[in-house]
Amino acid sequence: MSESVSLDNLPVSEEEIADLTYFAFAKAVPAPRDVLTSQARTIELPDVLVGRYRLERLLGAGGMGVVYRARDLLHEQFGDPEPYVALKMLGEELAESPDASALLYSEFAMTRRLHHPNVLRLHSFEVDTCCRRAFFTMELMRGLTLDRLLCDRPLGLSWPELRDIALPLLDALAHSHSRGVLHGDLKPSNVMVSEDGVRLFDFGLGQSMEGVMPGLAQLSRNRINAWTPGYAAPELLEGQPLSTGTDIYAVACVLYELAGGKHPFNRLPSIRARDERLDRELLAPRTLPKHCWPALRAALSFDASQRIITVPELYDSFNWQPLLLRCWSARVGRKV
Ligand SMILES: Nc1ncnc2c1ncn2[C@@H]1O[C@H](COP(=O)(O)OP(=O)(O)OP(=O)(O)O)[C@@H](O)[C@H]1O
Ligand SMILES: [Mg+2]
Repeated sequence: MSESVSLDNLPVSEEEIADLTYFAFAKAVPAPRDVLTSQARTIELPDVLVGRYRLERLLGAGGMGVVYRARDLLHEQFGDPEPYVALKMLGEELAESPDASALLYSEFAMTRRLHHPNVLRLHSFEVDTCCRRAFFTMELMRGLTLDRLLCDRPLGLSWPELRDIALPLLDALAHSHSRGVLHGDLKPSNVMVSEDGVRLFDFGLGQSMEGVMPGLAQLSRNRINAWTPGYAAPELLEGQPLSTGTDIYAVACVLYELAGGKHPFNRLPSIRARDERLDRELLAPRTLPKHCWPALRAALSFDASQRIITVPELYDSFNWQPLLLRCWSARVGRKV
């Protein structure tokens, strides 16, 4: 790996490490006949992948993947003034696991199924046969992840700022559910904001609902345990499958945190928070309008059967305006 794209150059704080997706192959499995994993992977990452994408710098690294900013030399050759893309591949350790390429392809295929202005746009899935690495390219975001935003705003956001993020985020999630795709790892570092708006991304731990994309390799959670402790619903930590309800718990934690600057349960694993009955002390964030709280509170229920709220309902509660205010804002043409 060249100096300029070395992982060692990336500063990672202790808090960021705690927020990484915990990813482990629970049981060792024999390697399938996978062309990408059939040889020891000691080959260095070149500066240019598939003769087209020049890796320029590391944008971020999570529990699973590494994301680079890259220059698309083909587009550049045709005079594109903005030939930049983001490029994601699996981290070196994971890339050596038998399921690695299927995992990355699954993320690519599920995200590509979504067509929504607030879901990050992906371009193409490719394999560099020289270094034996699979990767995909995507829209390059020049903005902040919500965890960075929260570092800058430790007391949380004002109501108009919160609503400007919450509505597109919930709309993106509702779209994803309506297309049969569960995100599986909603958390502040998987949402970005920039001048171009809000983008939901990183469907790497996502799953398609039954009957959707049947040809796609389904990654078994019996073999793969992956979660981000502070955002995974209790039933997920107890071995239940992903569901719209698990995404709702996670997005509710994110919204609560944006509103008041603090995670509802101090980023504790939900099982521990439940056992310590932390929900009994849960108060509405100061800047959150009263009408949003019942919906957000329901979405934060530890008990999945009490989490009786859908993403569109949560959206509606954040979008609700008293009639008088609506008439006034329509007259003066203002968003309030
Ligand atoms: N398209 C993009 N444009 C700019 N930066 C990006 C882009 N995609 C990812 N990043 C940066 O890279 C980081 C890691 O990306 P991503 O969340 O996809 O990886 P991951 O390994 O799956 O993470 P996780 O720990 O959540 O599993 C992001 O938090 C973000 O800072
Ligand atoms: Mg991520």
